[in-house]
Amino acid sequence: MRLVLFGPPGSGKGTQAARICSRFGLVHLSTGNILREEISAGTELGLRVGGIVRSGALVSDGIVNELVFSRLDSAEGFLLDGYPRNLMQARRLDEYLGPRRRLSSALLLEVPDAEVVRRLSSRAFCSACGFTGSVSHGGVCPSCGGPLSARPDDGEEVVRRRLAEYRSSTAPLAAFYGDRLHRIDGTGTEQEVWVRMENLLRGLE
Ligand code: AP5
Ligand code: MG
Repeated sequence: MRLVLFGPPGSGKGTQAARICSRFGLVHLSTGNILREEISAGTELGLRVGGIVRSGALVSDGIVNELVFSRLDSAEGFLLDGYPRNLMQARRLDEYLGPRRRLSSALLLEVPDAEVVRRLSSRAFCSACGFTGSVSHGGVCPSCGGPLSARPDDGEEVVRRRLAEYRSSTAPLAAFYGDRLHRIDGTGTEQEVWVRMENLLRGLE
């Protein structure tokens, strides 16, 4: 399967992507994770995009297209998490993949704004290894033992900007994908969302 997973900030894309990729044997590519790794490693690219990511705006299409295409290479089964983010990226991705590797489906994880704000205000994030969770774990990352904190773009004002950016740039992807689109109710527990997701994907396999 070749999948795109999109939805508002905090809708659970990363959480569900990990489960989907492990269950269906797909390569997981998250542009947000890749950008955060570049920023924390202090690379030239990280220095260029750090301020943009912290502000909640989108990084330029040229940069993210290149990050994705250089990693997709010849992967047959993959899930793109948080990419494409606007119509330009979506059109460019279709062009890049061509008819032989055409996307199987675009999955839209739907969660209301109030729930997004609630989830992101309590997200625990490890800048050392990228671990993301919803409980504080006593401030210590259960994956690498590093310190947990809020993600730098999870402040209230930045979350509002990310939501606005989602509505104006990303939500139009639903119409773009047309009959390739599948909507998933992202409310309820992680496990409840996963059951809906797995049932849908089993039908598409
Ligand atoms: P990105 O990292 O993609 O951020 P996002 O889309 O805003 O989404 P998040 O990662 O915040 O949330 P998520 O949907 O993955 O939810 P999660 O599973 O973590 O992008 C960050 C930035 O990078 C962008 O703002 C932009 O600057 C740049 N960028 C990235 N891609 C780009 C692109 N293509 N083009 C241009 N710029 C780009 O869950 C959230 C929280 O909720 C967690 O604490 C989790 O534990 C919890 N949770 C998950 N599921 C549930 C549930 N069912 N119930 C309760 N809690 C839950
Ligand atoms: Mg994410």
